[in-house]
This record gives sequence, C-alpha cells and structure tokens, in this order.
Amino acid sequence: MIIAPSLLASDYCRFGAEAVRADRSGAEWLHLDIMDGHFVPNISFGPEVVRRIRPLTKMFFDVHLMCSQPEVVLEPFQKAGADLLTVHVELGDAVESLIWKIRSLGKQVGLAVNPPTNINAALPFLAKIDLLLVMTVNPGFGGQPFIAEMLPKIEQARRWREERGLKYRIEVDGGINQETAKECARAGADTFVSGTALFSHRMMKSAVRKMRDGAAAAARQG
Ligand code: DX5
Ligand code: ZN
Repeated sequence: MIIAPSLLASDYCRFGAEAVRADRSGAEWLHLDIMDGHFVPNISFGPEVVRRIRPLTKMFFDVHLMCSQPEVVLEPFQKAGADLLTVHVELGDAVESLIWKIRSLGKQVGLAVNPPTNINAALPFLAKIDLLLVMTVNPGFGGQPFIAEMLPKIEQARRWREERGLKYRIEVDGGINQETAKECARAGADTFVSGTALFSHRMMKSAVRKMRDGAAAAARQG
C-alpha cells in the first residue's frame, strides 16, 4: 500500500516546509496536482515549484497532469524531478503519443480516468502503463466528497490486471480519508492519494500509518 499526500491541500505559502512534513510522515509518494485552468477550472502550480522542492525529499514524485496539452509540460516536469507522469484518458487521440513521450523521457507512465468516463477507455493502454488512476471526484479542487459509484471501476481495473497478468498500480484520488481508503482497498486499490484528510492533520504521521494499515487490513479481508 502506498500513501501519496497531495500537496494541493498544503499551505501554499510554505510548499517547501509542507513537502518536508509529508516526507516525515512516512508517506512513500508525494502527489503533485498540476491544473492548467482549461482541462479543469482551476490553476495550481508549475514545474518551478516541483524543481524547488525536489532537493528537500527523496519521496517519489507522482505528477498528475490535469492539462489539455500536457505535451507542452512533460519535459519541464521531467527536468524538475518527476518520477511518474499521469495524463488523462479523456485526451483521446493524443494519449498514445503522450505515453510514448513519457517513456522516452525515462519516466513512469500513469493514465487517469475521470468519473463520467467509462473505464473501458483505458483498455487499449493497460499494457503500456505503470499506474491506472481512478478519479473518485471530478478533478479541479481538493476537499470534495468521495463518489462511491467509482468502486466498480476499481474492481474492473483489478480484474483486468489479474486476467492479463499485468502489473500497473491502481491509484485512487479524491475524497480519500480513513474510511473511503478502506472501501477502495477492498475493491482493489493499492495507491491512495489524500489531500485534505492528511494535510489537515497535525499528526500527519499517525494519519498516514492508520490509512496504510487500514487499507492493508481491508484488502486482506477482500
Ligand atoms: C483533485 C486532485 C486531487 C486532490 C485530492 O482534482 O486531483 O489530487 O488533491 O484532494 P482531496 O484528498 O482533498 O479530495
Ligand atoms: Zn490528483
């Protein structure tokens, strides 16, 4: 189980200190939400923020590109220190070449599916990705409620992975707290993005441990 606190929910005046806080919490990944004001109705931050926090932590940088033209920023984020770059399946015909470009930059590939999008849209790409991100809110803002109707998509992603002998991680993002993380783990998720529920905690370390242990126990129960 991997826990990925989302910097979107941190104090925007203190990105460096907040990244260090996430690091000390024991979380393995840092989730970085990149919003372009076009693919989603919000703007977050760019490669320079990622470049500045890169030397402060050894955490794996999980960059979620909510952008209409991610090809423009792939290389800047690679240079800034991203370990994995996720693009959205809603970009249609562009997806194939985006996956290729991310690979050619030597980075891991993620593919995200928005709540209204059929999970089947991800099918042609499953063998080419390292991570399938099932969005559990409509992207754009932190602090939204979890959409439980997404659980069958997670189950489907797990079924496909088993049937095809693939290895991609199954990540969930949006409204993930101690309870919803367990529901997602039961359905097959293994990577949990959580913004508000973790950054709002004074004791982030215990919140991260509780989320990881709770998810692992829920997954064992099936
Ligand atoms: C939503 C972003 C999420 C967001 C999650 O557009 O992709 O990563 O930070 O925030 P919470 O956990 O607060 O729902
Ligand atoms: Zn995200």
